[in-house]
Amino acid sequence: MISPTLPAELKAALDGKLQGFSRTDAAQRSQKISTAYRAGGGSGTIKSEADALAYALARMPATYAAVAASLNALGEIASDLAPETLLDVGAGPGTASWAAAEAFPTLQDFTLLDANATLSRLALDLARDSTRLAECRYLPGEAGVNLAEVSPADLVIASYIIGELSEADQRKLTEAMWAKARHALVVIEPGTPAGYARILALRQQLIARGAYVVAPCPHERSCPLTAPDWCHFSQRLPRSQAHRQIKGAEVPFEDERFIYVALTRTAPESRAARVLAPPDVGKAEITAKLCTEEGVALAKVPRRDKAAYASARRWRWGDAVIAES
Ligand SMILES: C[S@@+](CC[C@H](N)C(=O)[O-])C[C@H]1O[C@@H](n2cnc3c(N)ncnc32)[C@H](O)[C@@H]1O
Repeated sequence: MISPTLPAELKAALDGKLQGFSRTDAAQRSQKISTAYRAGGGSGTIKSEADALAYALARMPATYAAVAASLNALGEIASDLAPETLLDVGAGPGTASWAAAEAFPTLQDFTLLDANATLSRLALDLARDSTRLAECRYLPGEAGVNLAEVSPADLVIASYIIGELSEADQRKLTEAMWAKARHALVVIEPGTPAGYARILALRQQLIARGAYVVAPCPHERSCPLTAPDWCHFSQRLPRSQAHRQIKGAEVPFEDERFIYVALTRTAPESRAARVLAPPDVGKAEITAKLCTEEGVALAKVPRRDKAAYASARRWRWGDAVIAES
């Protein structure tokens, strides 16, 4: 399991870029970028080196934490996955590549695909002195077009990109990414109902192509949740002082809501139920909402069952757990 906080080398590279960069300027730029995102404008507003850095300072810690949690979930179920090659689709500043390098020490070959030249320059700059990523390759331009040209990779990751595409383009990119995923594909999106809907559509599209779902779902059936409920998770991460200044935030931590799906070409050897919400720890029992192979279940673990209760006390939202039926 890897930590949700940025690796030391990445933090040092970001801190280095921060020298001489006004926090007020960074805060204004990141505010403008967030407003554009909320209005559905995507990352098109990131046009200058300063914009790219402001974006990375504001968002990279949180998207890194979400990718780290998703890769931890993949590695926990697909425990013999040892990828050597990675395609990071819509890599931006290289967030998912950094997380994948931490999660999979076997990775040796990193290819980053992104249409935004400014973010890509930053990605290469941040990776320059990295022990693992210094030799990474960057393919500029439309990811769908570039995917047609590249060799397949053991692991393909698309973190916070598909929401920037039209529905038709999401379907095309999904197809292209799966075609290049030798062993696994992980797609991560914001933990909103819209992000969940995109992940559900992608999941369904690829199950029809023979994909297995490794996480978060312990099955390939239709999602048992019904609106207004939606599947998402939350990852807490510490906020640095610079990050607090840029975000105008008081608290020293941030909770990133995200949704993901990890798909593989071979069936997972084991399945575990997934905790879908923070468990309720009561005096007499622990109640936890679980997604199981049979559907959604409210597991009740009584205090009198000492061993099961002690183990359920450690359950956290998003965990894969073995629940007694
Ligand atoms: C929100 S950023 C996410 C960056 C990074 N994956 C992360 O998680 O921090 C989305 C990225 O996708 C890229 N992008 C969006 N549409 C693209 C496309 N059709 N082809 C290539 N890159 C694309 C954008 O340029 C941007 O860098």
